[in-house]
Amino acid sequence: MKEVFPDTARVSDDGHLVIGGCDTVEIADRFGTPVMVLDRATLEARAKAFASVLEPARVHYAGKALCCVAVLEIVRDLGLSLDVCTGGELATALAASFPTERITFHGNNKSDAELRMALDAAVGRIVVDSFDEIDRLDRMDATADLMVRVTPGVEAHTHEYVQTGQEDSKFGFTLAEGVALEAVRRARDAGNCTLHGIHAHIGSQIFELSAFDLAIERVADFLASARDELGFEARDLNLGGGFGIAHTRDEMTPDPAESVSRLVSIVEREFSARGLPVPDVYIEPGRATVGASAVTLYRVGTIKEIPNVRTYVSVDGGMSDNIRPALYEARYEARLANRMAAASGPLVTVAGKHCESGDILIRDVHLPDDIAVGDLLVIPATGAYTYSMANNYNRIPRPPIVMVADGRATEIVRRETYDDLLRLDRRLDGSELP
Ligand code: LLP
Repeated sequence: MKEVFPDTARVSDDGHLVIGGCDTVEIADRFGTPVMVLDRATLEARAKAFASVLEPARVHYAGKALCCVAVLEIVRDLGLSLDVCTGGELATALAASFPTERITFHGNNKSDAELRMALDAAVGRIVVDSFDEIDRLDRMDATADLMVRVTPGVEAHTHEYVQTGQEDSKFGFTLAEGVALEAVRRARDAGNCTLHGIHAHIGSQIFELSAFDLAIERVADFLASARDELGFEARDLNLGGGFGIAHTRDEMTPDPAESVSRLVSIVEREFSARGLPVPDVYIEPGRATVGASAVTLYRVGTIKEIPNVRTYVSVDGGMSDNIRPALYEARYEARLANRMAAASGPLVTVAGKHCESGDILIRDVHLPDDIAVGDLLVIPATGAYTYSMANNYNRIPRPPIVMVADGRATEIVRRETYDDLLRLDRRLDGSELP
């Protein structure tokens, strides 16, 4: 159970799932369902594990995985840095009083307003991603600390939608045809900017760490030519995020500290082999920092058995709070949080409540054969890219996030209300609703 549930998860004498010392059945009663329960201890332990190899400030939490003020406050207090990729994520960081020198600003299509916001906030690094962006920084006569994002031409074995390192990508500058070299030359000369190094993120949910080895080799080759042709030496090398985590019992989460130590030693080996100075390594783990720390609780609302076909167990959330199964065929597992000791039974399908057949959370999962309406279904490992990708399809309000620690449950994001949903609507004549 520990592999996919938060570290503090245990089962109480009455068979309830307890996380962070809080009974999840009580949480569901108090905050309603669906609800995301975030275990502070697990989040902190994962963040510290990454920071045990590199100094904390060289570990950037990728805010896109889960971006809300309280989570960023925790990351801030652990001394980690932060990767943001939009003005909205930066605004959240500023609201969390995140030290701006520890913020790196990403994005393949930053608007002028976003660049201005990043410059005004004096973020630590802007990662430039296109010639247009470099030109704009130049025209703004910006004073900024830059990294150049390159695509090392590595196809990480992960879902196509979350691969980013391959040649054919909307992100970064290709190493081929001298394109990235030209980007380095122009970024170095732009405005009053200082170019510190290179950024390469190859994808997400990567289990085969050898994909990183190849990326590092290619970046080292590239930097050898940047030295020879431009006299440029990178002080910083940001290898992005992408470390995979288990979502089901048959997957294994690679150890964060081991993964990072491995990267660092390969950087040392590859850079030394080319007579290059060994750069400072930075990483940006999002999923592996926050993914395992949360579970989502749902209430079972209807159970429909289609004889000889399939049993649908429908819950009170779905693709609006977790779009990953519909979008990436992501797999999850489930248990009954109110009856953790119940023996698992036949395969069923867990469906959401949205008006769409594709709204399936888990295609096949073994649940107790006496599963009943009113049971509390828990899906573990939902901390990353669920709330941050949540939407209001079918006008379903987004769930709250409740943080648990030492027996205390605190709502860090409240449940959306129908009033929230209507807040932006205007009448036909443009007037506001009462
Ligand atoms: N750095 C950069 C530049 C990135 O683009 C990303 C993720 C990360 C770091 C963090 O990657 P992580 O450590 O979390 O794998 N929505 C998808 C994942 C998209 C990831 C986008 N970029 C999903 O639900 O699987």
